[in-house]
Amino acid sequence: MSLPVELAFVTSNEHKFSEAEEILKGVARLRWRQESYREVQAETLEEVVREALTEIPGDNFFIEDAGLFITALNGFPGVYSSYVFKTIGNEGILRLLSGEKNRKASFLSVVGLKLKGEMKLFTGEVRGRIAPEAKGSEGFGYDPIFIPEGYDRTFAENPQLKQRVSHRRRALEKLSAYLKATHHF
Ligand code: IMP
Repeated sequence: MSLPVELAFVTSNEHKFSEAEEILKGVARLRWRQESYREVQAETLEEVVREALTEIPGDNFFIEDAGLFITALNGFPGVYSSYVFKTIGNEGILRLLSGEKNRKASFLSVVGLKLKGEMKLFTGEVRGRIAPEAKGSEGFGYDPIFIPEGYDRTFAENPQLKQRVSHRRRALEKLSAYLKATHHF
């Protein structure tokens, strides 16, 4: 089967690119536009993505923005996930939750597609909990402290599991279904 149209993933994150490459295999010829772009401070990931889509030059590309939403912290770090990771990191999150029984958290992913000048968003979520301590060395970011619902190991301990159930997988599968349904690819 030929995959005629090339679709670029604009991201500076090599982990995100390789996750996406595997998920979209057979659907699109994926190219890595290894670039970073300005992310506005907004209240939702959708707003961040919409704004970025209008600013990034070119066509036939997608971007993805993710965040970790912790129930006991009223959704924090959420849209601040990147800044919080850089400043207090996983150890800081574990400290904020020390003594907290409610460890529920979700990862959310918003994929923003710009195709033939049109924009479309796809969202994905994985529910889970914050681990008692950081574990595992695979993946990136908050992977060592996130355990998906129904499992006992963190994303960083079990990258194959992450590939199957992650927020990004779920959002990208919607993108993939859209591309197939609209016969773009
Ligand atoms: P962004 O989507 O690159 O803006 O990510 C926001 C923050 O969440 C960054 O600190 C990332 O490292 C982290 N993050 C994004 N996606 C994931 C993931 O799949 N696993 C763990 N951390 C993630």
